[in-house]
Amino acid sequence: MGSFTKTIIASICVIFLAVKWTAPRFDEESLRGARVLVTGASKGIGEQLAYHYAHFGAQIVITARREQALQQVAEKCLSLGAQKALYITADMSSDSDPDKVVDFAVEKLGGLDYLVLNHIGSSLFSMWQGDVEHTKWLMQVNFFSYIQMAWRALPSLEQSKGSLVIVSSLLGKSTSPFTAPYCSTKSALNGFFGSLYHELAMKKSNVSLSLCTLGLIDTESAMEKVRGVTKLPAYPATDAALNIVMTGATRQLELYYPWYTYVMVVTKDWFPSVTNYFIQNSYNYIP
Ligand SMILES: NC(=O)c1ccc[n+]([C@@H]2O[C@H](COP(=O)([O-])OP(=O)(O)OC[C@H]3O[C@@H](n4cnc5c(N)ncnc54)[C@H](OP(=O)(O)O)[C@@H]3O)[C@@H](O)[C@H]2O)c1
Repeated sequence: MGSFTKTIIASICVIFLAVKWTAPRFDEESLRGARVLVTGASKGIGEQLAYHYAHFGAQIVITARREQALQQVAEKCLSLGAQKALYITADMSSDSDPDKVVDFAVEKLGGLDYLVLNHIGSSLFSMWQGDVEHTKWLMQVNFFSYIQMAWRALPSLEQSKGSLVIVSSLLGKSTSPFTAPYCSTKSALNGFFGSLYHELAMKKSNVSLSLCTLGLIDTESAMEKVRGVTKLPAYPATDAALNIVMTGATRQLELYYPWYTYVMVVTKDWFPSVTNYFIQNSYNYIP
């Protein structure tokens, strides 16, 4: 190995260690008794988020549409150590339910330390067929309800020096086929909350904002869509959820999980043709 290569490898190691060393440490005790609202918690990553907060002794309100599933998740949260585990059914395609959920959580928990926005409406994994109505509906569920809930919760989060955690996707930063409506909603989230982050910082707000960029995660709904269509590896939902919890608790602006999501975001600007080739060839598609 030449001395130039050795210097490059040594520099990368030093930078990696420096980043690790200076990264804020996660103190799980900080979550004991924390008042947390998690949306989309009846299954998938949201369910796993609820279990991690429960394990750390938080007080939790969970929400989604299916009551029976929420009840089961809430019971398991109590058995895992949650100080409180309450649920409220809500449909985020409605104009009023987003506010109703925040009001319920603030009232039942006596305030709010974490608002974790994670829910998504179901959408097809297929070529765009011109369904504008579906895209409008998905925008309401995946985007407008997020900004409505964030606005409603901000006064409570200000009081508690709380945190706003947004679960987004690599597809909000780098586009991909078969997901045009979903990509639009996630790009909108990144744009809106990226802008809100600056405003909160400029106002010297107490509230931290975390934007979580996830790659393919092994939830039932994601796997159903991509089975046989892509060879991309899916990462465990419980690990993704733990990383989201830690990112919120350490008040970091961004999470990239798994590691390759960061590489994809960087390379799409540096080497767009290579990235586009890779994206289009990572799916089994015969025209
Ligand atoms: N899984 C992945 O590969 C992946 C990759 C990147 C980013 N993400 C992000 O991670 C988050 C969670 O994804 P996931 O795979 O865990 O999703 P999921 O398993 O499909 O769960 C979605 C959750 O949202 C709820 N929900 C659906 N429609 C709703 C509505 N109209 N109103 C209120 N709640 C509704 C569902 O419960 P009900 O049916 O009971 O309402 C469920 O609890 C999303 O923000 C997603 O974009 C996931």
